[in-house]
Amino acid sequence: MEIFHIPVLLNETLQYLNLNEGSIVIDCTVGEGGHSEEILKRIGPSGFLFGIDQDSEALLKAKKRLSSIGSNFTLINDNFSRISEIRKQFGIPPADAIVADLGISSLQLHLPYRGFSFMKEGPLDMRMNPNAPLTASDVVNGYSEKDLADIIYTFGEERRSRQIAKAIVLYRKNKKIETTTELAGIIEKIYRYKRGAIHPATKTFQALRIFINGELNNLKRFLGDAPDLLKAGGRIAVISYHSLEDRLVKESFKTDERLKRINKKVIRATHEEILSNRRARSAKLRVAERT
Ligand SMILES: C[S@@+](CC[C@H](N)C(=O)[O-])C[C@H]1O[C@@H](n2cnc3c(N)ncnc32)[C@H](O)[C@@H]1O
Repeated sequence: MEIFHIPVLLNETLQYLNLNEGSIVIDCTVGEGGHSEEILKRIGPSGFLFGIDQDSEALLKAKKRLSSIGSNFTLINDNFSRISEIRKQFGIPPADAIVADLGISSLQLHLPYRGFSFMKEGPLDMRMNPNAPLTASDVVNGYSEKDLADIIYTFGEERRSRQIAKAIVLYRKNKKIETTTELAGIIEKIYRYKRGAIHPATKTFQALRIFINGELNNLKRFLGDAPDLLKAGGRIAVISYHSLEDRLVKESFKTDERLKRINKKVIRATHEEILSNRRARSAKLRVAERT
């Protein structure tokens, strides 16, 4: 079965980015190319799109998709935290728009061998960049109880972090934790699933993913460097999916002297979008303009 990622807040993002024929755009999280496809259509053959993603598997899909629209794009397999270095390496000119749609894609979540989902049995991996050195298994099977509890608390905002860390360490005394569902099973024993509530493993999986991929540090570095790639009047749009990310974006857009906020109130998905795409529930869009 082919898995498609439905782009979130697509119309709102494109509208706020003020794209025109001929615009130069950097999509820092191309994924399967959902946002990029529409961007290419809006900027026409005289525009140019630079698309970054740290997941080489996603870029292969994006390349196929974008090639059916035009050839005026370059895909770059790298981390957006290195946007300044990428600009130099690829000679990116001052941009009209930058977009980052954070987190993981539906493709990553639904492929069991990527190890992101507690709903599907897979290895404890969770690397967005399949060549990165640290896997979820290294952390879950190798870190001390205290470090595990701190990670689960800090990046998952999980109140039962200490109990979960203790259960993990107890379990692995007998057997290495090999799979996503095995880890979810350990958490489920502590924390019963109540109908309508989020699954008990949700926050722990989020925490491990954020930690392994260095998501918050990457985002901080990106927010510090990205405004320098915009031309005056150019816009940056960031879509985040949890409060830890959104707090960084909000603070950065508010305090960065190179930027003027376009929306002080965060933009959320409409009821209709949420009904057709559950991922949109938690999405928050913030947009700022280079002064
Ligand atoms: C939500 S998906 C993007 C989906 C895309 N906008 C679309 O509509 O198809 C996020 C993507 O960002 C990538 N990503 C996340 N953090 C990254 C980072 N620090 N550097 C580069 N890519 C990153 C992930 O690998 C994933 O493919």
